[in-house]
Amino acid sequence: MVNEQSTSVAYERAETRQHWNGVWDDRSPETIDPRTFADRSGPTHRHFVSRLDDVEGEDVLELGSGPGHLAVYLAQKGARVTAIDVSPEAVETARKNALHNDVAADVTVRQGNALDIGRLSGPFDRVTGRFVLHHVEPFEDLVDALDAVLAPDGRGVFLENSARSDLLMWCRRHLAGRFGIPKYGDEDEHPLSPREVKALRRSFDVQVHVPELVFFKLMIPYVLGPTRSPDVLANGLRTLDDVLHRWVPALRRYSYRQVIEIAAT
Ligand SMILES: C[S@@+](CC[C@H](N)C(=O)[O-])C[C@H]1O[C@@H](n2cnc3c(N)ncnc32)[C@H](O)[C@@H]1O
Repeated sequence: MVNEQSTSVAYERAETRQHWNGVWDDRSPETIDPRTFADRSGPTHRHFVSRLDDVEGEDVLELGSGPGHLAVYLAQKGARVTAIDVSPEAVETARKNALHNDVAADVTVRQGNALDIGRLSGPFDRVTGRFVLHHVEPFEDLVDALDAVLAPDGRGVFLENSARSDLLMWCRRHLAGRFGIPKYGDEDEHPLSPREVKALRRSFDVQVHVPELVFFKLMIPYVLGPTRSPDVLANGLRTLDDVLHRWVPALRRYSYRQVIEIAAT
């Protein structure tokens, strides 16, 4: 819990905690190289990390920190980081990673619900998170909580998935978790919806960036299963996404990946 008075367990489902405990359980510490961290997974991640390059001397809050790789990176860049995750196993792994990477003095990891960030010692110059906003419900309460902890000129940046494409959402609903096709998330989560982005706009200046189109390449595991895609097809679908991203900007809004920036108003 965030602290002894924390009472928000009503928001947390035991199954969600269990799911993520299983994911982060028993992970060996990992060395994070700040020179290559941004390049870990494609243009969207690169863009996201580039928006956090200037955190030196700032108080940064990371939501849903999982194994703590981003928290470590931010501390390596000179930030004082507070990280929060609902899963005790994630918290333990993140603490181990902070120690392993010699940044434990600048990384405080708390177990708790993102809705409880008001109990942490803010305000924060930055808030951030990778693939976490879409886990938190009620989302409007999260928006209020973010608004309360962000410093007057504070900013936030989030790497997120997106529910904007009906076709991708149909595949996710009907194919993921069946026919040998993996399902990576927990039972409660749904990709971030346009309604939730709108809720952010009510309290913040919001910018949405789509540095790459993630659409047809997502069809590879959906249509062919995780291990059955011939390289030539996989490469073809990736190329199709890249070409469409470049030449048909109107399609970018349907990408499954996005970077969301918020600024206090
Ligand atoms: C998809 S994982 C992302 C982990 C990490 N951000 C990363 O990029 O490696 C989502 C994380 O959010 C955490 N989480 C889910 N719901 C949460 C909530 N309501 N409050 C805080 N953390 C939550 C999970 O325990 C999990 O570690």
